[in-house]
Amino acid sequence: MLLVPEVRNVPYFDYPKVYLNEKDTLLKIIDDVSSRGAFILQKELTEFESNLAVYTGANYSIGVANATDGLEIAWMALGLRPGDEVICSSHTMLATASSIKIAGGTPVPVEIGSDNLIDPEAVEAAITPRTVGIMPTQLNGRTCDMDRLMTIANKYKLFVVEDAAQALGSRFKGRHAGTFGNASSISFFPAKVLGCLGDGGAVLTNDQSTYDKMYQLHDHGRDTNGDIKSWGRNSRLDNVQAAILDFRLKTYSQVIARRRHVAALYQELLGDMNELQLPPSPDSDPNHFDIYQNYELTADRRNELRDYLKAKGIGTLIQWGGKGVHQWGGLGFDDVKLPKVERFFERCIMLPMNMFISDADVQYIAHSIRNFYAQ
Ligand SMILES: Cc1ncc(COP(=O)(O)O)c(C=O)c1O
Repeated sequence: MLLVPEVRNVPYFDYPKVYLNEKDTLLKIIDDVSSRGAFILQKELTEFESNLAVYTGANYSIGVANATDGLEIAWMALGLRPGDEVICSSHTMLATASSIKIAGGTPVPVEIGSDNLIDPEAVEAAITPRTVGIMPTQLNGRTCDMDRLMTIANKYKLFVVEDAAQALGSRFKGRHAGTFGNASSISFFPAKVLGCLGDGGAVLTNDQSTYDKMYQLHDHGRDTNGDIKSWGRNSRLDNVQAAILDFRLKTYSQVIARRRHVAALYQELLGDMNELQLPPSPDSDPNHFDIYQNYELTADRRNELRDYLKAKGIGTLIQWGGKGVHQWGGLGFDDVKLPKVERFFERCIMLPMNMFISDADVQYIAHSIRNFYAQ
C-alpha cells in the first residue's frame, strides 16, 4: 500500500524545470547556434518548420514569435475587413478574440457545448450576413468536433482559423488539430506540451497563397527570396528557439504518452466522484486523440477545494483569470450573456498536468481531493 505523506509539494507548473531538466543539452544547442551567429532565419528554423509540417500533416508551417501573432497573421492573410464578424468560443484565451479585433474584424463569442468546447449549434445560430469566419479553439489539448464545424463553414462559405495554441499533436478522426481550416496557430510558450525557453509559435496552412501571405506578414513583407512584396511586420521565431523545439519534437510522442498516462491515472483515482466532472479519459472516444495540455475539470465548492489543495502544497490554476471572453468589461460585450460559459467559470479548476509530476504526486493529489470531500 502506498504511504501518502502529510504534505507534499506539487506546484502547478515548475518553470525552472523547463530548462534545468535538460540543461546540458540545451546549453550545447544554445552554444552551437550562438557560436555560429545563427540567430535569425537560419537552417535550424527551416528544419523545424519542415519537421513540424511533416508531424502535423500540414502542407506549410512558419515559425512566428508567439501564437497570438500567428492568429493575427492568419486573419490578416485571409483579408479580414472592418465589419467582418468571426465567431469564437467565449471559453478561450482572450488572444483568440483579440486576434480577430487586431486584424480588423469583430469577434462574436458564443456558448460551449457539453464538451466545454465551442458549441456548433451556437455557431450556426450566431451567423449573420456579416459573418466571415469561425475560430474554434482546440482547448486543453482536445480537438473540437471538426466534422460539424467544417460542415457549417462549408455551408455558409466561412473561413476557419483554428486556435491550436494548446493542441499540437491532438487529433480528431486521425487528423491533426491545426490542419482542418484555412490556417491555424500553435504556441510554444514554456508551459505548452512543446515549449521553448520563452515565447514562440508557428502557423500552419495547407494553402500555398495563404502561406505566401503569412510568410510576408511575418517578415516585413518579404517573400522567401527576401524581396518585399507587401506590408508586413516582424514576428519571426528565433533560430535558437527553433533548434530547441526541433530537439524536443523528436521525443514529443513520448511526452504525449506520459501525459495521457497521468490523465488515465486521474480518471482511475477520481472518476467515481459525483462532485467532479473530469475531462474525457484518453481512450474514451475513438474519434479523439487528446494530448492533455491541461487537465481541467469542474468541481463542487471549487474555491474551497482550491484553498484546501493549496494548504496541502498542491498548486492549481483557474484558467484566464476565471472569466470567459465576454465577461471582461470594456471589450464591447456588456450585453452578451452566455450562461453555460459563466457557470463553467464558476466551477472550473486545473490540476497539475506536466512532465515533472510523478505517479505518486497524482496519487497524493487524488487522495487530498477525496479527503476534502469526505470532511
Ligand atoms: C488557447 C490559446 N490561444 C492563444 C494563446 C496565445 O499563445 P502565445 O502565448 O504563444 O501568444 C494561448 C496561450 O496560452 C492559448 O492558450
